[in-house]
Amino acid sequence: MKTFENISLKEYNTFGIDVKARRMVVLEPGDDLSGKWKEERGKLLVIGAGSNMVFTKDYDGTVLILNGEEVRMDGLFVRAWGGMMMDDLVQWTLDNGLYGMENLSAIPGTVGASAVQNVGAYGAEAKDFIERVEVYDLQERCHCTFSNADCQFAYRDSYFKHHPNRYLILRVTYRLSREFVPNLGYKALEGLPHDTAQQLREAITEVRWQKLPRPEEHGSAGSFFKNPVVDEATYRRLREQYPDMPEAHSVTQPLSYTVTYKLSAGWLIDRAGWKGRVQGRAGVWPKNALVLYNADGCTGDDVRALAKAIQQDVKQKFGVALDPEAIII
Ligand code: EPU
Repeated sequence: MKTFENISLKEYNTFGIDVKARRMVVLEPGDDLSGKWKEERGKLLVIGAGSNMVFTKDYDGTVLILNGEEVRMDGLFVRAWGGMMMDDLVQWTLDNGLYGMENLSAIPGTVGASAVQNVGAYGAEAKDFIERVEVYDLQERCHCTFSNADCQFAYRDSYFKHHPNRYLILRVTYRLSREFVPNLGYKALEGLPHDTAQQLREAITEVRWQKLPRPEEHGSAGSFFKNPVVDEATYRRLREQYPDMPEAHSVTQPLSYTVTYKLSAGWLIDRAGWKGRVQGRAGVWPKNALVLYNADGCTGDDVRALAKAIQQDVKQKFGVALDPEAIII
C-alpha cells in the first residue's frame, strides 16, 4: 500500500482535469486492507481509471485507487483484480483461449468499474459475463461476495452505483466460453473481419478509436450522456417529426409490460447542432456528439457548464431529458 499527500489527480482522470486530493492511497493485489485510511469514511472516494469522472474542485479527503494486475483462470472462469485495466483483461482472455468479451475491447476503465458501470459496447455488456464480484464493504468493514443477481445490473447501472464509495471492488469473476462465436448483431460491426477473435478485437478497437479523441491529444470520458429511455408516446412523436432519427431499441419492462425506447443521445445532440462546438475550454467531439472533451486545459466547471447547456437545449428542442453517464464530483 502506498500513500501520497496533496497530490494532483491530473493523471488519474481521463479528462485530465488538474485538481488535487488531500491524500491518495494506492492498493495492490496482496496488500492487507487494515489501515487508518478506512476511518475516513464519508471523506473517501474510490476511483478506477478515472474514465468516468469530472472533478470540479480539489478533493478534501482520501482518494482510493487499486493498481496492478492479477488474473487467474479456473476452467471457464476468470477472476481478475479490480484495478486491472479492462482492455488488458480482454486481451488476456483471448491469449488464454477464452472468448466472449471481444466486443468490450478498448473500453477505458478498470475491471472494478466494469461492474459498477455495467460497461457495454456493440451489443455486449459486462453483466453478460460477470459471475460474481468480491468486495470490501467500507461501511460494515467486512469482505463479501455479490452474485450477478445481487448486483442488480441494468443499462450502465448496478447496485454499487447506488451506494457510491461504500464498496471497494477487489475482484471480479467472469464466465467465458471456449468457443468463439462472433457477436456481430450491432450495425457498426457489419463487414468487420472475424475469422479469429483477435481479428475481431482489433477491428472493433479501430472502429471505437475512430469516434473518440486520442487520449494523448484530448482528455474525455467516452460517452458523456446515457442514451435516454422514453415512453411510447414520446418515441412516436419524435419518429413522426424526425423520420431520419436512428432506429431505437425497444425494451419491454418486466413488471408493467409497457414498452420503452432507448434513443441515441449522440443523434439528439448532433441534430441540436452541438457537434464540434467549443464552449469555454470544453467541447463536443467533432466525430461523435456523445463525447465531451478537454479542448484546452479545461476545468470541471467548463465541462459541467457545457453539459448543462446541451441538456437544456435538447430538452427544449426534443422534450427529452439527458442524464450524464459521467459522475460530476
Ligand atoms: N449519432 C449521430 N451523431 C453523433 C453520434 C451518433 O447521428 O454524433 C447516431 C449514430 O449514427 C447512430 C446512433 O446515433 O445511428 C448511435 O450511435 P452509436 O452507434 O455510435 O452508439 P451510441 O449509442 O452513441 C453506445 C455506447 C458506447 C458504445 C457504443 C457502441 C452509451 C451511452 N454509449 O453509444 O459506449 O461504444 O454504443 O456500442 O450507451 C461509453 O459508454 O463510453 C461508450 C463509448
